[in-house]
Formats: sequence, structure tokens, C-alpha cells
Amino acid sequence: MSNEKRQQIIARYHFRHATKVFDDAKQINKEDMMTILEAARLSPSSFGMEPWQFVVVESDHIKQLIKKHSWGAKTKVEAASHFVLLLARTHEDVRFDSAYVKKHYLDELHYPKEVFEHMKDVIENFQKHDFHLFEDMRYLDDWSMKQTYLPLANMMSVAAELEIDSCPVEGFNRETLDHLLQSEGIYDDHFTLATMVAFGYRKKAPKPKQRRAFDDVVKWV
Ligand SMILES: Cc1cc2nc3c(=O)[nH]c(=O)nc-3n(C[C@H](O)[C@H](O)[C@H](O)COP(=O)(O)O)c2cc1C
Repeated sequence: MSNEKRQQIIARYHFRHATKVFDDAKQINKEDMMTILEAARLSPSSFGMEPWQFVVVESDHIKQLIKKHSWGAKTKVEAASHFVLLLARTHEDVRFDSAYVKKHYLDELHYPKEVFEHMKDVIENFQKHDFHLFEDMRYLDDWSMKQTYLPLANMMSVAAELEIDSCPVEGFNRETLDHLLQSEGIYDDHFTLATMVAFGYRKKAPKPKQRRAFDDVVKWV
């Protein structure tokens, strides 16, 4: 790979910033948005479990609800071109012996039965003994939510590649938004809202990027 190409890659990571003010006059075209969502779908997950769903919010009513109840999304949810919820499956679905796990590997991924049985044992051992996720169901919920940060990152990187801006949003009370969005029928209690992300076009230039020094964050051993 040429040095120029490498610099182009890094330039995309400088381009991406948490956009505070979106230009409400600019819309992302359908093909670009589908590319961003496809990057989410193709993201890796632990054991390939894909414990997620991505909800593109188009309804004004739901946008108003999010605006009212998310301090982190207040200035973005209406002005952004697209607003996406990243839902994570809860502990009932991601535990090794759940109906979701069985359906996912057997019906969606078409694993042979004996391969699935082995996989289930491996997941059980991992969840119980390697990561101690059964000590508290909250750990399983958090493990599931962690997976959604990979599609989140991939979506933002692909957006930057397409010269589209974004802002990840964790500024909300999970219980409140889960309750409201579930009451509105957006998702059921198999899911929880892990994080959200706005996409669109910046209204003004961002502040220069601030990061810790390279040698401070990267260690070679
Ligand atoms: C998971 C996550 C949640 C975030 N939540 C919010 C948010 O609710 N509102 C907001 O304005 N920025 C939010 N941010 C943006 C960060 O503050 C920002 O990424 C960080 O300060 C680095 O700046 P940069 O992204 O512009 O380089 C979030 C970032 C991440 C990764």
C-alpha cells in the first residue's frame, strides 16, 4: 500500500468527529445510508451471535420523544438526516441455552445439530467460567451491549469514508427510554437500548482533534 493511501485512511479518522450541529437542510442519499447500515450488519460479534437490531427512526413522534428524554441527542435528533438506535438483546436471549441462540445457529446460520451442541458448550463455559457473566444477569446484558459498539464504530467509519458526519449518543437514561420506546411498540423486552447514533452533514467546522499522545496509548511488548 502506498504512503498516500495510508494518509488517506488516517485523514478519514480526522474527518470523523462527534458532530454537535447538523445542517438540517442536507439529507443523506438512500444508497449511502444503505451502505452504512450494511457495514453494521456485517460487523463481527462474539461467537457470531449478532445480538443486535438497528432501528432507523423516521417517525417525528418518536424523534420528539427521544429529543425530550435524551440529553445527549437533544440538538441532533431532528437536525440530523438519519438517526439510528442500536438495540442489544437482553440476558434472556444471549445466555447459552436461550431460544434465540438455538434459532440463530440452527435456523439462521444453518449449523449442523452436533456443531451447535458443541458451540453451546463452548459458549456456556465462556459465559460461566471465563467471563463470569452468570454472576449477575446485568453482566450478560452488558456483554451483549458491548457487541453493539462494533457496528457503531463501523457505521461511523464507513460514514466518514462517504464524507458523512456522525455523532454517537449515550446521553440518555436507559430505563426511561426503554420503557417509552417499548410502550410505543418500537421493540419488545427482548431488547434494550445500548446506544444511538446520528448521521448527517456538519453545519460548521469541528474543533481540532484532541487525543492522548501515540506513545501514551500504544505499547509494544
Ligand atoms: C459511546 C459514545 C457515546 C457518546 N455520547 C455522546 C452524546 O450523548 N452526546 C454527544 O454530543 N457526544 C457523545 N459522544 C461523543 C464524544 O464525546 C466524542 O466522541 C469524544 O469527545 C471525542 O471527540 P471526537 O469524536 O469529536 O473526536 C459519545 C461518544 C461515544 C463513543
